[in-house]
Amino acid sequence: MERVYVAGIGITKFGKHGETSIELAMDASFKALDDAGLSVKEIEELYVGNFAQNIFEGQAHMGPALLMRNGIKATHIESACASGGFALHEAFRAVKGGFTECAMVVGVEKMSSKATPEVTKIVVTAGDAFYEVPSGITFPGYFALMANYYLNNLGGTRDDLAEIAIKNHHHASKNPYAQFQSEIDKERYYSSPMVAEPLCLYDCSPITDGAAALILTSHRSGVELLSCETATSQIALSERQKDISRLENVQLAADRAYRAAGIGAEDVDVAEVHDCFTIAEAQHIESLGFYGHGEGIKAATRGETYYDGKKPVNTDGGLKAKGHPIGATGVAMAVEVVKQLRGEACNQVKGAEVGLISNMGGSGSSAVVGIFRRS
Ligand code: COA
Repeated sequence: MERVYVAGIGITKFGKHGETSIELAMDASFKALDDAGLSVKEIEELYVGNFAQNIFEGQAHMGPALLMRNGIKATHIESACASGGFALHEAFRAVKGGFTECAMVVGVEKMSSKATPEVTKIVVTAGDAFYEVPSGITFPGYFALMANYYLNNLGGTRDDLAEIAIKNHHHASKNPYAQFQSEIDKERYYSSPMVAEPLCLYDCSPITDGAAALILTSHRSGVELLSCETATSQIALSERQKDISRLENVQLAADRAYRAAGIGAEDVDVAEVHDCFTIAEAQHIESLGFYGHGEGIKAATRGETYYDGKKPVNTDGGLKAKGHPIGATGVAMAVEVVKQLRGEACNQVKGAEVGLISNMGGSGSSAVVGIFRRS
């Protein structure tokens, strides 16, 4: 087995863009090539993480669509909101297994080409199309169910959800690549429209265009990708588990990733987790073992998950405020963790040596966890 290093990173600003998904992906890719000091000829394999460009823009088959050069081995990977993380996982295995010395991962989504009601219908195709979706559920609805279950059975209040949003907007206010670069306070949170009780506008990740890219190599470089593991189970939330406050696939992927990396939750200095809705941040930090079950909800309220707190989480603003271009998200998480480990982050965590990404698809039916270390 080879060791896997990050040679280069690139990201576009997240938000609403006039450019196509291909232009956004190319922008991030060439930034990553520049960062690595490599030419496109040196990229042997390309993994493109994308959820639904076939519906958003009419473009499927994103490997050849994002043609880097003739003859490249290019693959399109789809696993809903974890498409970027699963693309990273494939590239990691290709380099780790010695199949290639240099692979690029690009995550991209352009969502703003459709209006919100259509986006809602497209996103919910990542749920269970035969039973749950016909009942009328949406993604804000899925996470509202989980939030209600959590708040009613484990504790916490809407105030704690507000604190997660306030923390992530605070981080994003310093991130020039974030969709929302403004702070919010409790008054603004409570005066925003309700989307799916108890989740209001400021509990939701927005509709975003953006791309991110990462180059993996077996040649020694500044940051090593120690492990990248996945887990999947039933697509229907109602069939998956009784206690819907738990993200069981995240926990399983994390257990596998910790074991492969030879580290534990206590060794993680900074984490990027999938806060598609505020409640999901609390669920992730519990499933990753940073907090006990029912304890994650108060972490932001106590200031612990701020970049200068004891367990920094979503230092770039997270999905909530940096934005959530679905297929790009897992790769963008990796870009932020690499910046942190290089000492180049906008909200730099002092002395960060180990960073983790936790990217999830659907209502938690697929999950990927990656662990990086400064080398
Ligand atoms: N957080 C903060 N502000 C937001 C926001 C969000 N999530 N979404 C939109 N806004 C802001 C806009 O910037 C705009 O501000 P402005 O009036 O100052 O320009 C205002 O709110 C209205 O924006 P608009 O795009 O019209 O909102 P909308 O009502 O159409 O959509 C949501 C809001 C929450 C319904 C939409 O963002 C959404 O569906 N999010 C979830 C996406 C999703 O499910 N992703 C997959 C997760 S698994």
